[in-house]
Amino acid sequence: MSKPSAKQEIDQLIEKIEYYNEQYYQNSISEISDYEFDVLLKKLEKLEQEYPEFRYSYSPTLRVGGSITKNFPTFVHKYPMLSLSNTYSEQELQDFDKRVAKGLGGEPFEYICELKFDGVAISITYENGILTRAVTRGDGTKGDEITNNARTIKSLPLRLKDHFNLPQIFEVRGEVFMPRDVFLKLNEERIAAGEAALANPRNTASGTLKMQDASIVASRQLDCFLYGLLSDDDIVETHEEAVLWLEKMGLNVSPTWKKCADISEVMDYIHYWEKERLKLPLDTDGIVIKVNRYAQQKRLGFTAKSPRWAISYKYKAENTSTRLLGITYQVGRTGAITPVAELEPIQLAGTTVKRASLHNANEISRLDIRVGDFVFVEKGGEIIPKVTGVDLEARDPALQKLEYISHCPECGTALVRKEGEAVHYCPNSLGCPPQIKGRIQHFIHRNAMDIDSLGERTIAMLYEKGLVKNVADLYRLKYDDIYALEGFKEQSTRNLLDGIEASKNMPFANVLFALGIRYVGKTVAEKLVFAFGNIDRLMTAGLAELCDVPEIGDRIAESLVDFFSDGENRALIEDLKNSGLQFSASQMQKVLDSEALQGKSFVISGVFKTMSREELQKKITDNGGKLLSGISGNVNYLVAGENMGPAKLEKAKKLNVNIISEEDFLNLLKN
Ligand code: IVH
Repeated sequence: MSKPSAKQEIDQLIEKIEYYNEQYYQNSISEISDYEFDVLLKKLEKLEQEYPEFRYSYSPTLRVGGSITKNFPTFVHKYPMLSLSNTYSEQELQDFDKRVAKGLGGEPFEYICELKFDGVAISITYENGILTRAVTRGDGTKGDEITNNARTIKSLPLRLKDHFNLPQIFEVRGEVFMPRDVFLKLNEERIAAGEAALANPRNTASGTLKMQDASIVASRQLDCFLYGLLSDDDIVETHEEAVLWLEKMGLNVSPTWKKCADISEVMDYIHYWEKERLKLPLDTDGIVIKVNRYAQQKRLGFTAKSPRWAISYKYKAENTSTRLLGITYQVGRTGAITPVAELEPIQLAGTTVKRASLHNANEISRLDIRVGDFVFVEKGGEIIPKVTGVDLEARDPALQKLEYISHCPECGTALVRKEGEAVHYCPNSLGCPPQIKGRIQHFIHRNAMDIDSLGERTIAMLYEKGLVKNVADLYRLKYDDIYALEGFKEQSTRNLLDGIEASKNMPFANVLFALGIRYVGKTVAEKLVFAFGNIDRLMTAGLAELCDVPEIGDRIAESLVDFFSDGENRALIEDLKNSGLQFSASQMQKVLDSEALQGKSFVISGVFKTMSREELQKKITDNGGKLLSGISGNVNYLVAGENMGPAKLEKAKKLNVNIISEEDFLNLLKN
């Protein structure tokens, strides 16, 4: 390809991707599938690799990360990032209103009310319509430049539409946040990887923006709402016009703002959103009230710390007290013990609360909590309710001081507590039932081996019958073993067997994650696969070599070395290898040859004339097809070679699967 035509193709691809991105994030319309979108992105990525001179700062390929920032440079804000004075009282809002009225000498004025988003304040600069800088609030005067990380936020345009009359340079202000469902999923994955749960979406968003590896930031799916415009040019005269202008530029503005004619309308807004805000996909902790007209804002001016033309009203974190009925202890997959407060059920922020985590023994002694106590339970920015204290005045003096358990509630083994750690562990990893079942559950999780036909109840039955004592036993299950289980019929038995069989095609990163090595979550597993390629290289890597991989620190490296030095674990890996699981990355992030087989699933069987089985498998996946190992209702084509098994053929016929020859397959590719 000539240089000018490469540039032209790159320009066109960027425009296309920007268009679909805007449709998706601004207008909630998916005109193309995720897969088709990825293909466009991969094409662009490939061209940019070949022609680095056409790699633009606004290229959508930057959204997937790829850059590593060791130190974030400090940047002095052109316009300082102010804070707001807060109040929890409606009376103080009335006082604020009186001060504003007085300051404006009786002249009429209006307010804009917005929600106070609980995230990380950010300032973004656009120059000639291109996002050139993103800086955190820092101390308000100077913050950290985190541009590469901000570029991964998909709803944030990297280039604004050029048909608007844009000022040469301007800044927008807003809040970066992690949507609640993304946070919950991330925590679920962390717990599955044996890592500590993150406290709340705000801290997580803040920590994520400061991560070195932009591709991890991209995987964290941050989002942002913009609520401010700053420029030396007078673009608009009121805050309302500013917000509408931002929206028109394609910047993400929360539709929750409202213009209020007076303070009583502000009060209505506050009351309306008090409950309604809990339905939003992100945490909010109050509202912000701003005088609408800029000229009036200017006349009101600032105190030492904050503007006189704005204030925030914070909602009180809902809290209540209830009786502690008892404490139970949960044993996790890694043997970690979590004490849980069992509470007399109580209504809190719209849900019934029956249980709250007490974290660990230190937390219990800090609270000096006793069974029978009345405890304060709070639901603030956090999602899981927490016990914040004990109502000592209501305490019955007869209540006994609490003794933390010394033995595992499930298997009776003496608990251990590693130096410097707050959590107790049950060390009996090979004999403690919830640990064994927990590991199997983790293994089949959708981010791991994705055996969705296997549920918690079935795992419990298989374990109790002695059929499955570790994950490798799953691959030895026979038709009759499963058929004999309560609730299983012919079809469900076959589905489960097919699911187990199909899991053998799961990529190495999934297998590595599925092993349940402490601190090895999905993203870490992907990094390791990328760096080492196969299990043998990974197993022989030393601490230093492991730490050389981006984002792999001492803690993860030590956990890996520990895991692989255990003979039982090595035997398990050998066992799984013999069952045919993927322990090497065969085709890492490659661009597809074509999309001819997209959305189609294949099973191959027998021997082929013009190519080996491996070549045929590769042709299927390289052209967008999915390879399954067993015949099921999900299979579109069975590619039949010579000497194929009669049972497979029979089953395919029964399930109406298209049975095609090698030639038919090659024709399919051509079309
Ligand atoms: S306006 C001078 N609007 O609250 C005006 N801030 O306490 C300054 N925040 O640092 C900001 N939602 O992080 C504004 N709709 C909103 C907001 C908002 C959240 C945060 C922001 C700021 C802090 C000020």
